[in-house]
Amino acid sequence: MEKNLKSHGTWIGKWTFVLAATGSAVGLGNIWGFPYKAGDEGGGAFVLIYFLCILLIGLPIMVSEILIGRRSGTSPINAMKIAAIDSNRSPAWQLVGWTGIIAGVLILSFYSVIAGLCLNYIFISAASSGVIEAQTQFENATQSWQGLLFWHSVFMILTLLVVSAGIKNGIERMVKILMPMLGFLLVFMVMYAMLNGAFNKALSFLFSPDFSKVNTDTFLSALGQAFFSLSLGMGSIMAYGAYMPKKQDIGSTSVSVASLDTLVAILAGLAIFPILFSFYDGFSIDETLVQLKENGLGPGIVFVSLASAFNDMQYGQFIGPIFFILLSVAALSSSISILEPGVAFLSEERILSRKKSAIVISALSWIIGIGSVLSFNLWSNVKIIGDKNFLDSMDLIAVQNLQPLGGMLIAIFIGWFMKESLIKDELGSINPIVYKIWRFFIKLVAPIGVGCILISQLF
Ligand code: PFF
Repeated sequence: MEKNLKSHGTWIGKWTFVLAATGSAVGLGNIWGFPYKAGDEGGGAFVLIYFLCILLIGLPIMVSEILIGRRSGTSPINAMKIAAIDSNRSPAWQLVGWTGIIAGVLILSFYSVIAGLCLNYIFISAASSGVIEAQTQFENATQSWQGLLFWHSVFMILTLLVVSAGIKNGIERMVKILMPMLGFLLVFMVMYAMLNGAFNKALSFLFSPDFSKVNTDTFLSALGQAFFSLSLGMGSIMAYGAYMPKKQDIGSTSVSVASLDTLVAILAGLAIFPILFSFYDGFSIDETLVQLKENGLGPGIVFVSLASAFNDMQYGQFIGPIFFILLSVAALSSSISILEPGVAFLSEERILSRKKSAIVISALSWIIGIGSVLSFNLWSNVKIIGDKNFLDSMDLIAVQNLQPLGGMLIAIFIGWFMKESLIKDELGSINPIVYKIWRFFIKLVAPIGVGCILISQLF
């Protein structure tokens, strides 16, 4: 007997799903992660592999997640369970929803710490006099665990407030404000970079592939980035899909979300790299990369390299805060989607009210996040997995393993175990050729591609 689950309702506006799912997808992963990985992994070649991962693996899985979510209108755990039972399969498929929730709690724990740092940088970059070096600013901001913890708490409370207000009054209302703001700020930053930065150098860096730098790690990194960036494999998109009206077309909506997400990643690269290349004026692209690597090209790309460019340039005290507001807005529209699947489950099962569910899950993430706060300072030498500190270990477990694993299981379920008639009901009048292509990718390409990359990690 199926339980009577509490209904969450559907999005009101026609475009709300696209706005909310794009809000989920576009975040720190695009504006901070994509540029630093592209820089680290050799530019154009990484970008090309990343595009392929989005198109061949990410997009087919996104369609699957939305489809399963919308069919039942429930949280990912129940959505997987209902799809499995209706296909005469074991309800144990709901485990995919559970691993998603665990991944979500872990991701939110460190996402909030980095997003908190972005909030802090709005003020740091506004107050910067150019006298203190960016490296010192970064050390000052991260050496104090009290400061990091404060901003981590502020960001978590913001996330909690939006999610606890509900689908319509919280998430829908918020993305309608945040997304246009994000678009405006990003276009402003790109125009600024175009007019004042080394734009051509950035273009050739991002779009002329040098395959000599490609190795198996490049594929792993590009795939991980694609999953993270599209918010796949952990239920966020499935949860948002649950609130999508039945008449909306899943295929074209997924294409819109994936394209917007990719566009924002590229635009973020085109906002950041021209400023960095012009800061190292007179150096070639490769020489600049060497300089940047010394500065911490990795995660430090925005907090150290870009921040030092802001410190040095005219109007930096104005452009810097705009950039960090952009990052914070993008992070908030993502973090609410990370919290939603768990909250939807607890509240639809009537275990707790929506408010209490949001408090409990965000408190859990907040507590785990303290480990990531400390990994910048008191625990900087504490290794959790291999030589990785706490924050990197959470990333390794949740982003590099649980997300691809969740995505692969969803692909296997829908490709091999879910009744095809149920799938067709949900996809509506899809073009038969498009359907066949999607089916091929979801049955074979996605599971094999993700499986190979996951296995290659073990060696
Ligand atoms: N897609 C977000 C980003 O690129 O920053 C992060 C994210 C959101 C990951 C939601 C996972 C998720 F479920």
